[in-house]
Amino acid sequence: MQRKRPLVVGADGTIAAALIRALEARGQRPLATTRSGRPGTLRLDLTEDLDAWTPPADVGTVFLCAALTSTALCRTELDMARRVNVDAPALLARRVADAGGRAFFLSTNLVFDGSVPAPAPDRPVCPRTVYGRLKADAEARILALGESGCVLRLSKVIQPGFPLFASWLAELRRGKTISPFADMRMAPVSLDLAVRAIVGLDQGGRAGIRQLSAPDDISYARAASLLREAAHAPGRVRPESWKTRLPDLEHVPDHTTLDSSLAAGELGLTIPASEAVVARAVKELQ
Ligand SMILES: NC(=O)c1ccc[n+]([C@@H]2O[C@H](COP(=O)([O-])OP(=O)(O)OC[C@H]3O[C@@H](n4cnc5c(N)ncnc54)[C@H](OP(=O)(O)O)[C@@H]3O)[C@@H](O)[C@H]2O)c1
Repeated sequence: MQRKRPLVVGADGTIAAALIRALEARGQRPLATTRSGRPGTLRLDLTEDLDAWTPPADVGTVFLCAALTSTALCRTELDMARRVNVDAPALLARRVADAGGRAFFLSTNLVFDGSVPAPAPDRPVCPRTVYGRLKADAEARILALGESGCVLRLSKVIQPGFPLFASWLAELRRGKTISPFADMRMAPVSLDLAVRAIVGLDQGGRAGIRQLSAPDDISYARAASLLREAAHAPGRVRPESWKTRLPDLEHVPDHTTLDSSLAAGELGLTIPASEAVVARAVKELQ
């Protein structure tokens, strides 16, 4: 019998690229799609008509990693955002499931309003942003696949060389003052932990909703101070409110944590606290 291959949609994205490396390291020979169709990938633009799209015959799991991730763009380009973030992934998932495969969808803590810490996976969604609402709609379509659909909600994922931290560090090293938000928080997880969770949940054939975040929130201002201290940089950190600089932001959650106990238990994961994730990211930048 032919061995099933994973299909990673949106292969040039941060999480997808790391996922592909992890799948390759396991000898799984993933297929990948990109918008450009660069060599070694299948061309797939989710804004195009996908009526004729059929999954490659040997696909096991389709990992739906392509998305319009800018909350601002989701508001201003709503039709396109709905297409890319909801309708297209739902269609691809359905086609793969009909062909005997599974769909793995990446979602976000923004399906919640962030009014309480660590909501459980089965808590009713209550998004306050267009992006979050679209993700919640897409989740429902994936979950309708039953045993063939898995949703992993992630909080902020921090990759080595995280651009925000890199730009802060560059400024601080030049003796400049940076103004990170004191009232905007994240519950970050490292990229490698996120990828371990994705691979592990898929290998375990899990269906339904799983969640992954740090167990606590950290403000962007606190993260910046940790970075400054670790780097012994001469610049200064002057915390600010997002309300001063970005008064038109749609919504900023008080809490970004997710109850991650189900996935952590199933996968035997120890999930580091926010400060440890930030400290590691800072170390990787030095
Ligand atoms: N990173 C996080 O902190 C985080 C947190 C929670 C959830 N998530 C979710 O995880 C998933 C991956 O996130 P990420 O941070 O890795 O995203 P990313 O780096 O922004 O990558 C998104 C990918 O989607 C592709 N894409 C955008 N529009 C497309 C279209 N019309 N057709 C085909 N591909 C298109 C982009 O293609 P191009 O490369 O051609 O632009 C890009 O490769 C997303 O669903 C996101 O919502 C991420």
